[in-house]
Amino acid sequence: MAETTPLLELRGITKRFGAVRALNGVDFRVMPGEVVGLVGDNGAGKSTLVKVISGIHPADDGEYLWDGSAVSVNTPQDATGLGIATVYQDLAL
Ligand SMILES: Nc1ncnc2c1ncn2[C@@H]1O[C@H](COP(=O)(O)OP(=O)(O)OP(=O)(O)O)[C@@H](O)[C@H]1O
Ligand SMILES: [Mg+2]
Repeated sequence: MAETTPLLELRGITKRFGAVRALNGVDFRVMPGEVVGLVGDNGAGKSTLVKVISGIHPADDGEYLWDGSAVSVNTPQDATGLGIATVYQDLAL
């Protein structure tokens, strides 16, 4: 049987804030119809990863694939164009 293509796949994502390496070679994938929970310690980089996915903080390094194709997501508009929406915890937003 053919292997299903991930809807979202990140490979080797790195993000630095000055001397702080917030993300160091992160691999992450979401399959079609899958619900994924991202769990980690305070400061582990969860919010930064979501911001990379949603185009708020473009990655310094790594690959971003959408439905099997490499894409450039450098702005929130890029992510919105793919159909990616971010729902924030703060209801005031
Ligand atoms: N805009 C920023 N400028 C500088 N450093 C940042 C910035 N955003 C995040 N960091 C740093 O990157 C690291 C990862 O932070 P991030 O907020 O992604 O973690 P988190 O897993 O979401 O934490 P929490 O569980 O507290 O929400 C931390 O060391 C944090 O201080
Ligand atoms: Mg966070």
